[in-house]
Amino acid sequence: MNRFSVLKQIKSHVVMGAVIFGAALSVSAQTPASPAAPAKPAAEAKAAAPEASKTGAMGVQSANIFSIAPDANTDPKYADQNNGERGKVQPGNNAPMWRQVGAGANGYSSLPASEAPEAGNLIQPFVQYPGSKLTTAGEAWRQVRNNWIIPYGGSLLLIVILAIALFYYGKGTMKLHGAETGRKIERFTPLERAAHWTNAITFVLLAISGVVIAFGKYFILPIVGSALFGWLTYFLKNVHNFAGPLFAVSLIIVFFTFLKDNWPSKEDITWLLKGGGMFSGQEVASHRFNAGEKVVFWLGVLGLGVIVVASGLVLDKLIPGLIYERGTMQIANMIHGVATILMMGMFLGHIYMGTIGMQGAYSAMRTGYVDETWAKEHHELWYNDIKAGKIPAQRSPEAVAHGGPASTSASA
Ligand code: HEM
Repeated sequence: MNRFSVLKQIKSHVVMGAVIFGAALSVSAQTPASPAAPAKPAAEAKAAAPEASKTGAMGVQSANIFSIAPDANTDPKYADQNNGERGKVQPGNNAPMWRQVGAGANGYSSLPASEAPEAGNLIQPFVQYPGSKLTTAGEAWRQVRNNWIIPYGGSLLLIVILAIALFYYGKGTMKLHGAETGRKIERFTPLERAAHWTNAITFVLLAISGVVIAFGKYFILPIVGSALFGWLTYFLKNVHNFAGPLFAVSLIIVFFTFLKDNWPSKEDITWLLKGGGMFSGQEVASHRFNAGEKVVFWLGVLGLGVIVVASGLVLDKLIPGLIYERGTMQIANMIHGVATILMMGMFLGHIYMGTIGMQGAYSAMRTGYVDETWAKEHHELWYNDIKAGKIPAQRSPEAVAHGGPASTSASA
């Protein structure tokens, strides 16, 4: 059989297929699908409007409902009719049923409530979430997300980034005033650094994937197009769902690891009143962690951390025994949205100070060591306690064994 006859055959098959498909399409177009009214109302309508069934085996033929008994609404009780009554005067007019559905009424469902608590409910009842009108819950959630969380949350993040950029532009990196001594103090043990970086890396993964999921359609979709954006958000959603529980565990470890040095002390008040000397250039004495770091610890790591993780675990459906209804997910989503934006705003400041904002800070958390000069200038009370022998300069077994960093490159 040569190539042309094969093509001729394919062509005839395609034509044949098109004819069959066309015919099927026209048949289905002629038989209108009956409105998927929940069993009970349809039965009622069917019982109430015998003459309608006469107009076709499949229910009312497509017609303008108001051309059927157009004066039906002159009946003073018209607006209060239930679906059965309406079916009697205007067969096929299921407006009363949809009005009930729209108001959040529960219909009948054979699914067990334990497995599908909302099975009979198509549209949630009216609620008023903070910032929304009194409307159906789905719409109320949409209003809070689209009118508040996205525009104001997005603006807040942009303002924080701009403020950090302006601060860096104005002040630059906080450099050491004195020369380094070469003598090293172990500021973070290997365990503390491992806990911190596991937490930091999962946080950054969550922040990037979360920002793309929430704001990506404004600044990525227009550039890459919907297909690629779809794949990107699908991939990042999965990254988010897996990094979440890991962040939760590492957050708990970070909290208990750094707890003992974050208890408030009286010197913190002086630090806060002077803004840590950030603007005067005159640094204020502090213990191992200054009051600014302690605020980030209690408000950020604990306060916002707990809210972000708890709402995230609800959204991941990882809290056993919780009934995950749409309302639960809507509330968890709104709380998660607000708390994560506040946490990102706060940790942007932390990340700035922990990278380009202060000389030697990043290497402290990367290598574990700081020079004595760094300790004296930035955490003078901590440095004094070390010099007084109240706190060991080397804490981890490795550091004690080497009497400091294994090599002198720690001061990079
Ligand atoms: C890329 C992201 C991050 C970077 C670059 C970073 C950097 C740093 C640096 C350099 C330090 C040492 C500061 C000092 O010596 O006093 C530090 C301390 C700390 N970081 Fe981060 N960090 C990041 C993310 C996070 C996240 C997401 C959390 C928690 C949710 C966190 C919690 C802490 C805590 C608890 C400390 C100890 C200071 C304290 O307890 O107050 N960090 N970080």
